[in-house]
Amino acid sequence: MSVRHEPVLLAEVLGFLRNGPGLYLDATLGDAGHAEALLESEPGARLLGCDRDPSALEYAAGRLMKFGTRVSLAHATFREVPAALAAAGGGGLVGALFDLGLSSRQIDDPARGMSFMQDGPLDLRMDPSRGRTGAERLEGAGEDELGAVLREHGDVVGSRSLARALLAEARGGGLRTTRALREAIDRALGGPAHPRRYAQVFQALRIWVNGEAEELEAALEWLPEAMGPGGMVVTLAYHSGEDRKIKQALRGPAGSRFARRLPEIPGVRPPERPWDELTRRVVLWLISSEEKGRERVSEWFLCC
Ligand SMILES: C[S@@+](CC[C@H](N)C(=O)[O-])C[C@H]1O[C@@H](n2cnc3c(N)ncnc32)[C@H](O)[C@@H]1O
Repeated sequence: MSVRHEPVLLAEVLGFLRNGPGLYLDATLGDAGHAEALLESEPGARLLGCDRDPSALEYAAGRLMKFGTRVSLAHATFREVPAALAAAGGGGLVGALFDLGLSSRQIDDPARGMSFMQDGPLDLRMDPSRGRTGAERLEGAGEDELGAVLREHGDVVGSRSLARALLAEARGGGLRTTRALREAIDRALGGPAHPRRYAQVFQALRIWVNGEAEELEAALEWLPEAMGPGGMVVTLAYHSGEDRKIKQALRGPAGSRFARRLPEIPGVRPPERPWDELTRRVVLWLISSEEKGRERVSEWFLCC
């Protein structure tokens, strides 16, 4: 049975995110643990909660019903959030939360195919109502493409040869379940692999199937414009690729879109970038799923 997702670093997230009355965005609503705590502790907060997973929204709707009209929900990926924001009345956000990756409920449901610990269809989609499954993507993938996916999203050593071996099985329709993938990894590596290796491959494929890197890039593009002055953004990132993208957006040179929207004031030098960095703290957090392991969780608390 799936277990409710426990919100990560709840006190720390709220400590930065709570920023007075106004409209907040939770772009990764999940089971709404962070959202509920925010709405309870900030009486003037209104919330737009978004998730790409229809079942997460259904669960969150029940949990947040007690807040009535303070909450609106949208089935939206990061790319679709700006339209959802406009529909919710828009305006500058006082706070935004991105708790990236998967919820425990998604990991624990064998039908989602996210976990190497349980057998199920190799689906891997956060939104089962859209797009192609992991098995379908693998059957049509090229060796270069899959090698890059394993390397970039999973830090898999020997990514090219593993890609070749997996594709040979996938093209014959032999990689349609999580168990089949796990066994194919074993065969490719010449014996039962370390669980870390399975986790790397599953993570890489999930990020690819859900276009997570592109989704994050899209969000980092529209975020400066969506925030009101002094708006707070909290991100929780669980692997180095996400962490790097966020840092680049935060520390990099002024984004051209941001620079363009600033009015020119004679004698005043415009700020170089949209964000002030509020902390550089990086914490380690023990993943509380079946796939236990120490993961790096970086927190970035930003101010527009
Ligand atoms: C770690 S969980 C969030 C848990 C939540 N903070 C809580 O307290 O229950 C991440 C959620 O974000 C959703 N998600 C991940 N990437 C997304 C994207 N690009 N667009 C929309 N939702 C996304 C997932 O479907 C999942 O439900």
